Amino acid sequence: MCGIVGYIGTQAATEILLAGLEKLEYRGYDSAGIATVWEGEVNCVRAKGKLHNLRSKLEQVETPAQIGIGHTRWATHGKPEEYNAHPHMDTAMRIAVVQNGIVENYRELREQLKQKGHQFRSETDTEVIPHLIAEFLKNPPSVPQSFSPSDLLEAIRQAVNHLEGAFAIAVISADYPDELIVVRQQAPLVIGFGQGEFFCASDTPAIVSYTRAVLPLENGEIARLTPLGVEIYNFAGDRLKKQPRMLNLNPTMVEKQGFKHFMLKEIHEQPGVVRASLEAYFNNLGDSNQSPINLGLPESLYADLEQIHIVACGTSWHAALVGKHLIEQLAGISTQVHYASEYRYAPSPLTANTLIVGVTQSGETADTLAALAMEKERRQGKEPKYQARLLGITNRPESSLGHMVPHIISTLAGIEIGVAATKTFIAQLMAFYALALDLAYRRQTVSLDKLVEIINGLRQIPKEIEATLASQESLTEQLAHEFAETQDFIFLGRGINFPIALEGALKLKEISYIHAEGYPAGEMKHGPIALLDAKVPVVAIAVPGSVYEKVISNSQEAKARDSRLIGVTPVKDGEAAEIFNDLLPVSNVDELLSPILAVVPLQLLAYHIAARRGLDVDQPRNLAKSVTVE
Ligand code: F6R
Repeated sequence: MCGIVGYIGTQAATEILLAGLEKLEYRGYDSAGIATVWEGEVNCVRAKGKLHNLRSKLEQVETPAQIGIGHTRWATHGKPEEYNAHPHMDTAMRIAVVQNGIVENYRELREQLKQKGHQFRSETDTEVIPHLIAEFLKNPPSVPQSFSPSDLLEAIRQAVNHLEGAFAIAVISADYPDELIVVRQQAPLVIGFGQGEFFCASDTPAIVSYTRAVLPLENGEIARLTPLGVEIYNFAGDRLKKQPRMLNLNPTMVEKQGFKHFMLKEIHEQPGVVRASLEAYFNNLGDSNQSPINLGLPESLYADLEQIHIVACGTSWHAALVGKHLIEQLAGISTQVHYASEYRYAPSPLTANTLIVGVTQSGETADTLAALAMEKERRQGKEPKYQARLLGITNRPESSLGHMVPHIISTLAGIEIGVAATKTFIAQLMAFYALALDLAYRRQTVSLDKLVEIINGLRQIPKEIEATLASQESLTEQLAHEFAETQDFIFLGRGINFPIALEGALKLKEISYIHAEGYPAGEMKHGPIALLDAKVPVVAIAVPGSVYEKVISNSQEAKARDSRLIGVTPVKDGEAAEIFNDLLPVSNVDELLSPILAVVPLQLLAYHIAARRGLDVDQPRNLAKSVTVE
């Protein structure tokens, strides 16, 4: 949610900043701007809308400046208008600031600064920051709290100590043309080390084309980047010693590689994601003395476990619902799945021996982090059985979640650029299979033979996804042609595939803007059936197993109301062919494993409908890849 980037070095900054913003545009795309310092002035150019608007504006203002900051915005405070776009400046227009996050106490700071004569030009919370820095530059505290190598750094340190909230900022000033200062407080920020040049960004894809030597800042740290190097301090002003590490990400991972959209590329990467997860989470099954599961989680996390609570949002919440089914059915542990945004204000009564799992691909979702923080806090100081046992499932182990919880299952999707989650969802499912099987193994709730059978079944999944992708691409494209103008869709599933119905509906609505609802198939007759007629198609997930016949009869009820029926089902002939108007066939696998396959045609259907409607598939309106605000 909002992306920031910065550069200081020997090359022209503007193009590097724009290229970085392009890679960060998935974080927000309501408006964008950059500021550079050249010939004693800050040059700030901003534009409403997508980045190409900013690029066109910049064609008229070329500067060879070698220092600058950039921002792509997802509006929180103030409309997505140019005057609210970052960078924001102080009254004298000598200091420029970009921010990702929220300054919670901005109203009171703004009032205090206005009384001191500062003039504000936007509705944003960010604008208080350059004014506050200017104030501390003009009136430094009479007793500096520590030695500082630069007045700008000291003023920024003073300013951030007055800010409340979660934020990452980058600052440049016309009066300090050799300094780029960045701060991290609960919003991600990474520094990149080049040869005589340094970068900063909200996320690594923005800088990976220039360097793979990176240093993620920790909360409460300030870094001063100059052409000579990088110095890191804490908010108290103490200098810290830190070393960069090499990033395991190459620039091609953040390119489309011939696909029309990142989302399509990421859907096609899913067999590889499942393979990588199998490799990482499961051991060779030949050795009977060794657990078949390898998550590296300590016994203390599992001991006497009575309950599991999972907190998550959006697609991660859907993965968690599949996880609940697996954990309850395989390991016999009562599991509840909560919307993080609800749980944080209305938690369940405190229970003993409870594992709390936070699921977030980005590791930055504010509600999920806050729910986990709340849980940690309310358990502090309680007797041992109530102590917090926290586990995170994330695609970004270096994220805020990674800092917050002691144990992580890293999902192995690689970087996901499309705003709609696809391969990270499949990766989360894989993490839940591993967790449920690990619990089942340790508690001996499932025989070893059954465990091995399930793991062997999972090993077949990559090639089954490949087959699904090969057979469904043109089928879903054809259907998309017919449904491009449809206004409403219903998705039905039952049991372990009910969450997949929810996920199919979410994918469709978020990228195609078509209204879609997911229901447990058996619930349809309790209300939603009133919506059905020839204009409302129904997609039913009907895979052999405990609820197959039930889903078929629920589908028949829909057909009797004239709905066109699309079946995600392995059966190509017989009963299914007669009932469904259209088939999206998937292979016949164990019902327990079917969600990983059933979701693929639904992703493709959503993708092709949105592409057919000519929409911006990778950056749907109003959305952002990591939702760092409440
Ligand atoms: C949907 C989607 C969102 C996210 C949700 C949580 O395609 O991407 O619903 O799943 O915003 O995000 P994370 O997993 O980063 O916490």
